[in-house]
Amino acid sequence: MTEPRHFLSLGQLSKEELSELLDAADAVKAKPSSLGSKLKNKQVALIFEKPSTRTRVSFEAAVNALGGNAVVLRGDELQLGRGETLQDTARVLSRYVDALVVRTFAQDRLERLTEGASIPVINALSDFSHPCQGLADLQTIREKRGALEGVALGYLGDGNNVAHSLMFGGALAGMNVRIASPATHSPSAEVARRANLTAAQSGGSVVVTEVVAEAASGADVLYTDVWASMGQEGSSEARAEALEHYRLDEAAVELAADDVIVMHCLPAHRGEEIEAEVIDGPHSVVWDQAENRLHTQKALLAWLLG
Ligand code: CP
Repeated sequence: MTEPRHFLSLGQLSKEELSELLDAADAVKAKPSSLGSKLKNKQVALIFEKPSTRTRVSFEAAVNALGGNAVVLRGDELQLGRGETLQDTARVLSRYVDALVVRTFAQDRLERLTEGASIPVINALSDFSHPCQGLADLQTIREKRGALEGVALGYLGDGNNVAHSLMFGGALAGMNVRIASPATHSPSAEVARRANLTAAQSGGSVVVTEVVAEAASGADVLYTDVWASMGQEGSSEARAEALEHYRLDEAAVELAADDVIVMHCLPAHRGEEIEAEVIDGPHSVVWDQAENRLHTQKALLAWLLG
């Protein structure tokens, strides 16, 4: 039996595969019928162990639009909480459906699912990475800036799963990615090391700094994400204190290129990681960015299943 192709991290794609996916996403955005009924007679299970607005609804809409059927489940509706292993769960679900889209905690939970799955497993966000968000981000940047190679992206704030996906995806695409975080909330050093190896091949670069100006100065794209990701709400006060100087505010926009675009994967907390004047201001592309979740996920599902 052929091994299924999984989508757990942007670091697993080649540069050519990334371009192919983004081209397909652009095509389906321009002409929604371009992928036809690629998922006709396909069943896709969407399992969410954490809340979601964008990912859940855009995946369900994408599956339906491509002629497939989505089975949406919360993690606590499965037998996982009663001791069934992730491997056994994936083995059984592989007999019923054609793909698993999973939002979970540790990346290791996705890897254990792939051990049992004979169908593609798609990471719909883990504590480590958010590759579906990364795909939509890259589609949005390419759409707004005309290209990805050489584009300077400054990310301010928590070095979290979204930052990791921007590092992997940006490196692959030949972008210059600069992450500004306090030392206590910096991205994984291993991700930085791997992203740098990729960037060296593609002509891009990945820099991690504690200095906001190093990330923001001359940036073509400014990006931020919430300070307390799902599951970290209990420590939100301490996190806000540590990240206070990494807010995406008017001062950061002033440092960036005149035509900078401002991005946020949402949900946003105005007055915390981003000023209201910035997310609701003329540089913001966050609603187009959110829309692109639908188009990139259609392209991804058709690529993995079609
Ligand atoms: N950006 C994102 O993943 O949004 P949701 O958590 O609402 O899915």
